[in-house]
Amino acid sequence: VRGVDATPERIIVCSGFAQALTILAAALTAQGVAAVCVEEFGYPSHVRSLRASGLETTTVEVDRDGARVNELGAAGALLVTPAHQFPLGPTLAASRRLAAIEWARTQRGFLIEDDYDGEFRYDRQPIGAMQALAPERVVYAGTASKTLAPGLRLGWIVVPPALIDAALEARRLTDGPSAIEQLTMAEFIVEGTYDRHVRRSRLAYRRRRDRVVAALRAAVPEARVAGAAAGLHLVVDLPPGRSEADVTARALSLGLAVEGLDDYRLGERRHQPALVIGYGTPPEHAFGAALNRLCAALTAA
Ligand SMILES: Cc1ncc(COP(=O)(O)O)c(C=O)c1O
Repeated sequence: VRGVDATPERIIVCSGFAQALTILAAALTAQGVAAVCVEEFGYPSHVRSLRASGLETTTVEVDRDGARVNELGAAGALLVTPAHQFPLGPTLAASRRLAAIEWARTQRGFLIEDDYDGEFRYDRQPIGAMQALAPERVVYAGTASKTLAPGLRLGWIVVPPALIDAALEARRLTDGPSAIEQLTMAEFIVEGTYDRHVRRSRLAYRRRRDRVVAALRAAVPEARVAGAAAGLHLVVDLPPGRSEADVTARALSLGLAVEGLDDYRLGERRHQPALVIGYGTPPEHAFGAALNRLCAALTAA
């Protein structure tokens, strides 16, 4: 994967990032980590998982350059989405990456690089993994949930030497994906089929993203699309006067499920009303209709 520093004995295959997080929580706790800092917007279930594992969580603000990693406080680890912040969309700036690595080295902290959609970057080459800059302090986490299907429950982590024994033990105690699925995936990769699939999907998703952006620009020019051209979702700031609840309810009445950004708020700070729009799900034949409904939900008074 894009310049990850890995030897086979430091790779753990697990049931997606969800299981990776419980494994890592155990390993971090064994290393004396008590609190994990998360980005101020992200998956509430990730926070709940860390807390259920006995860790405290704090949040760090996110701006156009990604997480403000110079404000990590006393946390012993940072969970971060450097390639494409989830869900807001910025890429972690080079200076911030270096600052995060510097923090991890000097504070003996750990970074968890959640690379959930790094295969899908549309405006430039995929960005190299941060993990390669400090493999002894950074966990790299990848998943097949975006490239193949979330239902597959297949992910992988590359674990620093200091965490590997405790992580392997946690993995043994919680089981993981079936060997048959792992072997099928391995064959898929070795034969080059996976790579071809990702390339084809990248083109298809890029076209979808372009269609969403163009349709919104034409129908709702005051709705601003934010974030990098990457992944399978984008964030749209709502036109003035529209609330998230009102637009998501209107979309649902038209048969379209979209989410309000506030559903992903993990800290105190609110963002202006916005939608998180995933464009990966509708089948190709239904995509145009879904797009029309989205524009209708955004324009309806
Ligand atoms: C921020 C983030 N992290 C991780 C994942 C992957 O989670 P999992 O591998 O458990 O499906 C996703 C979704 O695919 C995500 O949006």
